Amino acid sequence: MTDVVNEPTNPPELARLGLPRVLGTDSRCTLADGRDVRVVQLNNAATTPPFERTVREVQEFLGCYGALHRGAGPRARATVEAVERAVRRIRSFIGQPEDNALLFTANTSAAINALARLLSLDTDDVVLTSEIEHTSNNLPWRYNTPARVLDVRANDAGTLDLDHLDQLFAEHLGRVRLLAVTGASNLTGFCPDLSALAARCHDAGALLFVDAAQLAPHRRIDMASAGVDALAFSAHKVYAPFGLGVLSLPRTVLDRRPVDPGGGSIDMIADTGAVVWAPPAERHQTGTWNATGILGLGASCATILDAGWNLLEGVERDLVARAASALSDIPGVRLTVPAASYRADDRIGTFPFVVDGLHHALVAAALEHEYGIEVRAGTICNHRLVRRWVGADDAEQARVEAAIAGGDRLASYGIVRASLACHSTTDDIDRLADALRSLATHGPAARYRAAPEHETYEPA
Ligand SMILES: Cc1ncc(COP(=O)(O)O)c(C=O)c1O
Repeated sequence: MTDVVNEPTNPPELARLGLPRVLGTDSRCTLADGRDVRVVQLNNAATTPPFERTVREVQEFLGCYGALHRGAGPRARATVEAVERAVRRIRSFIGQPEDNALLFTANTSAAINALARLLSLDTDDVVLTSEIEHTSNNLPWRYNTPARVLDVRANDAGTLDLDHLDQLFAEHLGRVRLLAVTGASNLTGFCPDLSALAARCHDAGALLFVDAAQLAPHRRIDMASAGVDALAFSAHKVYAPFGLGVLSLPRTVLDRRPVDPGGGSIDMIADTGAVVWAPPAERHQTGTWNATGILGLGASCATILDAGWNLLEGVERDLVARAASALSDIPGVRLTVPAASYRADDRIGTFPFVVDGLHHALVAAALEHEYGIEVRAGTICNHRLVRRWVGADDAEQARVEAAIAGGDRLASYGIVRASLACHSTTDDIDRLADALRSLATHGPAARYRAAPEHETYEPA
């Protein structure tokens, strides 16, 4: 795909519904055969384009941008006020409990690493995660805590095995400090029942942490009423790509020396080295805050809350049903999560699939260059479930690992993922289904060469 041209208008279908305007929904590109088409953005689980209102509010803010918490004057005051308003919007977006504090980080991955280090876990402690987690909700617990980390099992469609969860709580009675679970899977779209998980955690004396990176753009979050103790998400997946991760956590966790001390962490330091730490909620927010990121996220949160979750969730649920049925009906294309699961469970619009006989990265390249459709291909940071789907045994796994270590990143098994957002349309889904029907029947029309270093195929 070349020459992307950006025309920031919302398709009439979305404008009619009263959905927020998103920049770039009418981007166009030139295909391999020279045709000019509208770009179909179906890689929203990776990142979303910005809301028009978010960009406007950021632009207005930059006109008065000044020192945040580091000076006096009208611009500094305006900046403090704008950031405080944004923080209130973010708190209300997630229904943050009164006793929680917000910490800002670079992204969700950094937020989960920060939480792992802040919790002061011990070698006797147990952290439960699950087989459906993104790598960012697995590795921090393994590498940044001394705790024993155990995975709750999942079935092939990616739903959690709650009997196994109960069994793990019983086997490690009194030692499970935390269940760290995704709010919506980046691979299968599955959304666990958070209230039910919170009740189980609290009965066992454990905290519930929710990785809401995928949940936040798609479902109303109410931490307080669901009983979620801690939660993280990224602004760039909530239509606010200005950097920023959010960590909401109980204030009690912050009543300790900061894990990353520096400017802003202290109120006084003596020549002897004695330190008076800043109040708990501030001492962990080291260095100058990302005011633009906070403001942008606050604007996106307000945009969603003003549009109303009933509208957004309703529109997305209809699209999910339509996509599940459209993608389940194409000879040679297999949804790796059965279409029926999208009716049986609560699922956001995230669809993993394979095309018979075609490498996943080749499918993604052909969708891009021949049809103007953006998707993602690979193991999507969820290696274990993908491995299970492709049925790679230990010998195959060892072969793949050796090939990747040798530089062939295309040696990995994988799937293709199409993911919807609030700016997705029925036309997007139809374009994807038509393209897959043609690809599965005729294969790619253009010629491609493998680019293993980038884990992709490029036009030859
Ligand atoms: C469920 C989930 N958790 C965590 C992350 C990591 O988010 P970030 O890349 O913003 O750190 C992602 C990113 O795709 C995700 O989908």
